[in-house]
Amino acid sequence: MTQFEFATTQRNRISFNLDWLFCRGDGPGDSSCLTYASLRSALLPTANYLLGADSLQRRASEVADVAIATPTYATPEFPDTEWARVSAPHDHAIFGPFSIDLPGETGKLPWQGVAWYRKHFHVASLRSDERLVLEIDGAMSFSSIWLNGVLIGGWPYGYTSFQLDLTNYLAADGNNVIAIRLDNPENSSRWYPGAGLYRNVWLTRKHAVHIAPHELFVHTPRVTSDAAVINVDLVLRNQLEVDVLASITTSLSERDPITGNSTPVVAVLEDLRCDIPRQGYAQQTVCTTLKNPKRWSLAERNRYFITCRVSLDGIEVDQVTVPFGIRSITMDADKGFLINGEHTPLKGVCLHHDLGALGTAVSVRAMTRQIEVLQSMGCNSIRTSHNPPAPELLELCDEMGMLLMVEAFDCWRRGKKHPPGVNEGEPGFRYFDYASVFDEWHEPDLRAMIRLSRNHPSVIIYSIGNEVVEQWHADGWAIATQLAGITREEDRTRPITSGCNGEIAAYRGFQTALDVFGFNYKPHSYPKLHRRNPTLAIVATETASTVSTRGEYFFPVSADKAHGQVDFQVSSYDLSTPPWACLADEEFRGLDEAPYVAGEYVWTGFDYLGEPTPYNSDSTNLLNYSDPAEKEKHRAELEHLGKIQVPSRSSYFGIVDLAGFPKDRFYLYQARWREELPMAHILPHWTWPERIGEITPVHVYSSADEAELFLNGISQGIRLRSKLEYRFRWDEVVYEPGELRVVTKKSGKPWAEAVRRTSGAASRLALDVDRKNITADGVDLAYVTVRVEDAAGELVPRSRAIVCCKVEGPATLLATDNGDPTSLVSFHATERAVHQGLLLIIVRSLPEKPGTISVSAAASGLETATVTFQSK
Ligand code: GAL
Repeated sequence: MTQFEFATTQRNRISFNLDWLFCRGDGPGDSSCLTYASLRSALLPTANYLLGADSLQRRASEVADVAIATPTYATPEFPDTEWARVSAPHDHAIFGPFSIDLPGETGKLPWQGVAWYRKHFHVASLRSDERLVLEIDGAMSFSSIWLNGVLIGGWPYGYTSFQLDLTNYLAADGNNVIAIRLDNPENSSRWYPGAGLYRNVWLTRKHAVHIAPHELFVHTPRVTSDAAVINVDLVLRNQLEVDVLASITTSLSERDPITGNSTPVVAVLEDLRCDIPRQGYAQQTVCTTLKNPKRWSLAERNRYFITCRVSLDGIEVDQVTVPFGIRSITMDADKGFLINGEHTPLKGVCLHHDLGALGTAVSVRAMTRQIEVLQSMGCNSIRTSHNPPAPELLELCDEMGMLLMVEAFDCWRRGKKHPPGVNEGEPGFRYFDYASVFDEWHEPDLRAMIRLSRNHPSVIIYSIGNEVVEQWHADGWAIATQLAGITREEDRTRPITSGCNGEIAAYRGFQTALDVFGFNYKPHSYPKLHRRNPTLAIVATETASTVSTRGEYFFPVSADKAHGQVDFQVSSYDLSTPPWACLADEEFRGLDEAPYVAGEYVWTGFDYLGEPTPYNSDSTNLLNYSDPAEKEKHRAELEHLGKIQVPSRSSYFGIVDLAGFPKDRFYLYQARWREELPMAHILPHWTWPERIGEITPVHVYSSADEAELFLNGISQGIRLRSKLEYRFRWDEVVYEPGELRVVTKKSGKPWAEAVRRTSGAASRLALDVDRKNITADGVDLAYVTVRVEDAAGELVPRSRAIVCCKVEGPATLLATDNGDPTSLVSFHATERAVHQGLLLIIVRSLPEKPGTISVSAAASGLETATVTFQSK
């Protein structure tokens, strides 16, 4: 039993992550009564709690309206000692096992189905003016929550952060049992959503008179280098049975960029006094002007704190401090995106929320590493496709200088999972994507997302939807307008978009509901869109969808030969896309010819679990076609795919593979996005003993404008890169082993060189760790890369050596991966083949156990390797 002793300050938030008990499936006979239809009326008040509607005053008697007997696993006395002990964040599906028979969208992992979490906790009795609130940053999905056997609420959308007031249901003796049922229906997601309490869980004790959740909104309507107007909007809540008169003081301080702490107060805002009716709310606004503000930008992540204190009769009862940033943003139809007046093309990627081998279980270090890898490529923005992010991602993006497009939904009322042509009630109709709850939940979900996001300077755009089916229909405009209206009620400082793949959405009115038109895969249509909507800003919400597997190359090089091979890989010459998409080079050309487009979001930054196109038989792909002939062709392909056993568990779209190793494409984007960086990258690798004398094309990605390729010292010719070309190509190179070298120039001056050498036989393993010191807190991670090398230290690109991994010292081996999309080896295996010479080991520190950690790797016939680092 977890004991909770709260400190004496009025608002106290503590982690509720430890000591959960876990079990899959429902108790005997329970499943049939526990449908969403039977539970929904008990869940809706959770939304009202967030929205601040009248039913905040809900009582235990209302709970009785829900005619459901307490399920076995929710009864306080249920004997749960045999259940597995786990900690949140917990994605139970990532433990597998993989099953090749599952459809492509699943990632071949068992995330569908029901799971229960129980937790025993003791809370010493609360005072009559105190509240105890459970905060769940995300539970996948359709959560329903019982406290001491009483159904008290829940939330369907697994991506929304929500709160539940537990106070009225706490046990008199302080011994409580909370039971959470999660249910991932079949056909509820087009990708791997994860499963379980996959984000952080918190318990907060606060006074009954307090600042409502996420209701301290700081915005800066006017910002120049000389001054910033700072507005603070507050909603106060009174959960007492008496009216109160509250005093509010507000102060502003700088945030120390190194420690993250608050520095001495730089401004005190006007004191307020306001009446808050019993069981009611009051809204207040206070503002100030700050001279010479230190603005937030990508390069300088300056932030400030606003602290609000609420007092009753001179006694402080609540205090909330929020960080925020001062910056101006503009989305302009002609100039694109500007931050603090500076033109900043969006060099963005779309990201799903899974963290590769860790699944969706939130990890700050894993997210940080993703951002580090993306920034080294020159990426400056992420689209959280297609759902609200974890709070930690918002904070990291502020901290690290990464812009965010925060997206709400992948579908609206007309879901995506209805197979085309099948209507509700007909056989084959599949119904459990967001459409199944859209009507009742879009408002709380959208409001919750915006409230969570709006104090974060990194958030620059809200997206209300991705390729929603309504864009093609007459009801699209009305729904878009309604969603945009809700968004603006919560925050009028960010532009609103929606990712559209239908041209029709740009011309028949849908576009008028948006501030920025989001176009997916339409590089050739920007001029027409701009001509016909001259005052509407444009952003390329989804681009490229080029597919490849790291280190795989197929010959002869052509778009046709890029995939369809028996091993379910895709060639890394970066010449292959699904039919609705286009090559990175084509998108670059479209953007360069349309400088008014604010920038692009590439599909995708990292590979993700599920959706292994081109080996994916998910029929929602058909939504991408408007031409009936193309649609028919693709339908036939999908039918064929559905009949063969496909092993692919993860996508091929990533610029970076699932393990976080850059593919060749990484350098194509780096060359464009960091044009000031002298760099050159050669592909393919140069170890082809079976290709001696055969044509083996060589491509080079470089920020240079001139390049000369040498094979064993012999020039293969000079190539010049004109304005609308993005790679250097030597398509007639005849393979011979040895050394490939590229020498580049920019504006006539030497720029960068790169070399590829034919490797010898595999001789040894080499290990590298991403950080020499990690924190001994039980959550920090070290990422260790294993390389197979020849005697000279050259990577052996085609090695498939099986490596045995071992961790010694105060740490656990958390997961392994090699980035191979077809690998169905458990992410928790300690023995795994390298893929194209590389393997990843993820190690987690132990709490409060500092010391030296040693990771070693061994493989038959190869010299073993060890790397050591510190946990402090
Ligand atoms: C888009 C869709 C994405 C992903 C992508 C693959 O149409 O919005 O979620 O499915 O296709 O190319």
